[in-house]
Amino acid sequence: MIWVFVQFASTILLAVVSGIAAWAAGRVCHAPTAGKMASRLRASLVLICVAGLILLVKLAATVLLAATAGWVFVEDKAVAQLPMLVIPAAAVLLCAFPAAKAIREKIRETAKSPNEPPSPQARLSAAEPLWAFPICLKYIGALLSVIQQFFIAEWPLPVGKILAVWAVFVAWACLLWIELRNRYRRLAAAGQPKWGTRAARLYRKAGTALAAAIVLVGWFVFGAQASRVPDRMSMAGGEQAHGHALHAAADAQAVNIAELTGPRSEMPDRQFRLEAQRTTVTLPSGERREAWTFNGELPGPELRVKQGELVEITLINRDIDAGVTIHWHGIDVPNAEDGVAGLTQDAVMPGQQHVYRFTADQAGTYWYHSHHQSSRQMRMGLYGTIIVEPAEAPAQQPLDLAVMLHEWQTENGTTVTLGGLSRLQRVKAEPGTPVRLRFVNAGNLPASIYFSGVPFQVAAIDGVDLNEPGDLTDARLELAAGGRYDVAFVMPETAVGVVRSAGPFGPDSEALVISPADEGLPPDAAADSVFDPASYGTPAETKFGPDTRYDRHYTLVFDNRLGFYNGKFNFVQTINGRVFPDAPMFMVREGERVKMTFANRGFEDHPMHLHGHHIQVLSRNGKAVTGSPWIADTLNVAPGEWYEVAFEADNPGIWMDHCHNLDHVIAGMSAHVAYEGFYSPFEIGRATVNMPD
Ligand code: C2O
Ligand code: CU
Repeated sequence: MIWVFVQFASTILLAVVSGIAAWAAGRVCHAPTAGKMASRLRASLVLICVAGLILLVKLAATVLLAATAGWVFVEDKAVAQLPMLVIPAAAVLLCAFPAAKAIREKIRETAKSPNEPPSPQARLSAAEPLWAFPICLKYIGALLSVIQQFFIAEWPLPVGKILAVWAVFVAWACLLWIELRNRYRRLAAAGQPKWGTRAARLYRKAGTALAAAIVLVGWFVFGAQASRVPDRMSMAGGEQAHGHALHAAADAQAVNIAELTGPRSEMPDRQFRLEAQRTTVTLPSGERREAWTFNGELPGPELRVKQGELVEITLINRDIDAGVTIHWHGIDVPNAEDGVAGLTQDAVMPGQQHVYRFTADQAGTYWYHSHHQSSRQMRMGLYGTIIVEPAEAPAQQPLDLAVMLHEWQTENGTTVTLGGLSRLQRVKAEPGTPVRLRFVNAGNLPASIYFSGVPFQVAAIDGVDLNEPGDLTDARLELAAGGRYDVAFVMPETAVGVVRSAGPFGPDSEALVISPADEGLPPDAAADSVFDPASYGTPAETKFGPDTRYDRHYTLVFDNRLGFYNGKFNFVQTINGRVFPDAPMFMVREGERVKMTFANRGFEDHPMHLHGHHIQVLSRNGKAVTGSPWIADTLNVAPGEWYEVAFEADNPGIWMDHCHNLDHVIAGMSAHVAYEGFYSPFEIGRATVNMPD
């Protein structure tokens, strides 16, 4: 959404231009000659007009953003910044412009030649506070606006902090006024320039700089300290959780989530062993490097099970020093099987093992990955696909392929992957064969997928089948990080292609080509539209509709700003202005209907992933979903977008609710949905084996 960016950019530009204008305006009265004085005056007027135009752009962007995206997108900026920008602008119009006129006239009346020093009267009128003060004030307002924008972007409105910013504005304005007035008085009394000695000015500047440095360093040290995750803490023990029954000590009746396991005694229908290990892999470039893999494969082995089966997976950590876990992304397993280190289990250390058990009730495309130091471990390769096939076999044997989109590539895997391989891969299929391609985005950013050579359908999103999906041609898919799309079509007589970018197919395209014989290339890939899940397929009955009454409604506003996360200064990614572990705790009770509103005020995509539940998307940017029910576990919220979603609290425990751009998780972007009356016996922090991501 363009206005998000215009709003931000104009604020910064305004501070820069009004800063230069203030500097120029202050120099007018120091001009050595009458000619210089006149030209400095002109230059400052031009700069002020430019600043005025930028302010108009900013105001327009604010209004448009509020009108198109909603008040929540501009709230803090409008409330905090506008008074500090508009009042000085009015003062410039009402005071500085008339003062400029007076200065110009004085110069014209009294100057004999432009090369001579200005007359004392001209200099005095240029030192008149009503000239420079409003212009400097405008700069102060613009500077504080930038600070507000980069450091205290919060929701709900941080009233105290905004008042503090205003207090600084007023105090700074008073000091400035006193200084300008004294300068004027001194000049009027002396009758000629006497600005104080060079040394005195230097001392003052040095003093101010030192004071600013002390404040800055103090804030840095304190902020970094305060943001450090303690050596030992309950992951679900964030600020908001206090007072709720999350700790065993707090409530004797509270249920330990470690007891919320899958069926433990029955014989499993399927058993798998996944060994986490260091592996040396060969990149397509020939370069060899270390990866962390499951069973030596990258991505890890594809697990295929049938709907209804009891699945048992034994995780063995051979030599991943930091420990490892497995999270079953998108499968709504019982809480204790969820694989989150420090919340539902301890990280599995080298030589140890851990058994996961759950019933695969939901047919569909899912994936698994380590949920311990996720950002690092996923980058190193600890992930794979898990496919739950429908219980009853299809009438005709399909070509059913998982296609993983990820960021680095090796020759060690068996799963079809697209990303970084730069090589055309081929698969054979007889004409008439039903084809199902299961795309999994294991990367941090949304992934584009182009199709060529056949009309296709998006059959499922995040493992959930869509209702009556229609044929698509020339549409590109944008798949959320962590999300899955299943694409279906019937194999034609000619080649079909799947590729990451538009254009012709060649031997080194990042592409998959399916053809009846291992030859032939599909037509060039192109797309004139992007697949939109909000208006695709046919409506069907859903759990939540326009008349649903919700027991809880939570709003999550996403921002980026400068700040601290776990002891480090960073560009942090916030939920309601805060980073983990201070991020909000969303409390629910079993059986409740919960509505959530997501609004992204920042610059980056946030693929929001709620563990243990699927969410129904109700609306995007205020427009209700019109097509098939759209049920997801990972929903990409783009800059300037807002969504309303709903879920039923039907899987008790404590669940992560986080952004699946894992670089954002290490910049603070994770929160939890916690059921009342449950607690986690596990802890995170340096004194434990569990690291916050
Ligand atoms: Cu795919 Cu919390 O993770
Ligand atoms: Cu994010």
